[in-house]
Amino acid sequence: MTTTVERTVTVEVPVRTAYNQWTQFEEFPQFMGGVQEVTQVDDSTLHWVAEIGGVRREWEAAILEQVPDQKVAWAATGGATNAGAVHFAPSGPDHTMVTLHLEFEPEGLVERAGDALGVVERQAEADLQQFKTFIEQRGAETGSWRGQVNEDLDVGTPGVEAAEDSRGDSGKAGISGKAVAAGVAAAAVGAAGVAVAAGARSGSGSGTADLDGLDVVDVLTADHREATALVGVIWATTDAQQRRDLADQLIAELVRHAVAEEMYVYPAMRDHLPDGESAVRHDIEEHQELEAQMKKLEGLEGSQPEFTETLRQLEATLADHIADEEREHFPQLRASLPREELVQLAGKVEGAKKLAPTRPHPAAPNNELFHKVAGPGVGLVDRLRDRLSGRSTG
Ligand SMILES: [Fe+2]
Ligand SMILES: [Fe+2]
Repeated sequence: MTTTVERTVTVEVPVRTAYNQWTQFEEFPQFMGGVQEVTQVDDSTLHWVAEIGGVRREWEAAILEQVPDQKVAWAATGGATNAGAVHFAPSGPDHTMVTLHLEFEPEGLVERAGDALGVVERQAEADLQQFKTFIEQRGAETGSWRGQVNEDLDVGTPGVEAAEDSRGDSGKAGISGKAVAAGVAAAAVGAAGVAVAAGARSGSGSGTADLDGLDVVDVLTADHREATALVGVIWATTDAQQRRDLADQLIAELVRHAVAEEMYVYPAMRDHLPDGESAVRHDIEEHQELEAQMKKLEGLEGSQPEFTETLRQLEATLADHIADEEREHFPQLRASLPREELVQLAGKVEGAKKLAPTRPHPAAPNNELFHKVAGPGVGLVDRLRDRLSGRSTG
C-alpha cells in the first residue's frame, strides 16, 4: 500500500537561494533529526544513514532529475522504499514556494503501523518548517550545486514503483511497523533533500547538543517528534521485554521534556502570551495527566493487556498536548519573544533536560521553583535507580 504526502511551505528567500541550499545534502545531519550521515556518492547518488527510535536504517537514493531552481526528483534504490520530488516556484522576487511530494511504502506492516501516514506527515511538516527557518535566518545559502541531472527527461513525480528495487528491505529483525514508517519518514524526507529537520537531538544524554541557532520551539518540537516516533516503535514491537525497555525510554524522555518546559517555557508563556496564565494552567493539567499515565505504565509488563490500554491513553493525551502546544502556544511564544531570547531558552531547556528526573513523580508540584530546587536531586536519584536497575534511559 502506497502512502502519499504533499506539503508546501513558502520560504522568504529568492528561489535561487532556496534551491542552492537544498543541493547541500551532506549538511542535512547537522539539522535533521535522526539523520546521521549523508554521503554524496556522485552527482546523482546519495547514501543515507539514519537512526529513528533506535533503529538504524541505511539506503541509497538516486536523483532521477535535477533542474536548478525548479526541481529535484529521486527514488530510493536500496533500503527504505520511497520516492518523490521537491518543486521550487518563485512567488515574487523574494519568496519561494517549496513543495514536497513523497510516496512511501510501509511494506505490508501498515496494519500494525496504524498511524504511519501521520508520522510521515508530521515529519515532513516539521522538516519543511525547519528548512524555512534555517534559510530565512541565514538569508544566504551555505553552498550550491548548479549542475543538472537528466534535465530533459522530465520524470514527473516519481512514485514508489520507481523505488521498486528496494522492496523487502524493511523487514529486518527487530524492525517493523511504525519503526519502518518513522524510518521512512526520515528517509523519504531526507532523500527529498529537505534540509533542516527537527532540531537538536536531546535524548541520548551524551555530549552537548550543538543548537546552532535553533530556538526553543525547534528543540521542543523535536522532542515531540521523538516521543511520537517512540510510541510508534513500541506499537510495532512484539517482544514484551523490548516494549518495556522502550516504554522506559519514552517515559524518561517525556519527563525530562515536561520538566524543562515547566522550568523555562511555561514561565515565559505566562509572562508573554496574551492569555498566558490559562494557557499554562491547561498545559500543566495535561502534564499531570501524562504523569499519572506514565506512572501506571511504569508498573506494567509489556505483555499485559493493561500495558496496551495505558499506552493508548498516554498516546492520546500526548497527541492532544502536542497539538495544543504546537498549534497555539509555541507560535504565540515565537510571536511574542525576541529571537535571541528564544534561542537562549533553547539552551536552558537542553541544560534542564540533563539534570531533570527520568521517572514520573505525579505527587510533586509542576512548577518552576520545585523543579529548580528539587529537580536536580530527584534527577540524580532517578538516574541512580536507572543504573542500579539496568534501565537504560540515556
Ligand atoms: Fe511539550
Ligand atoms: Fe508540555
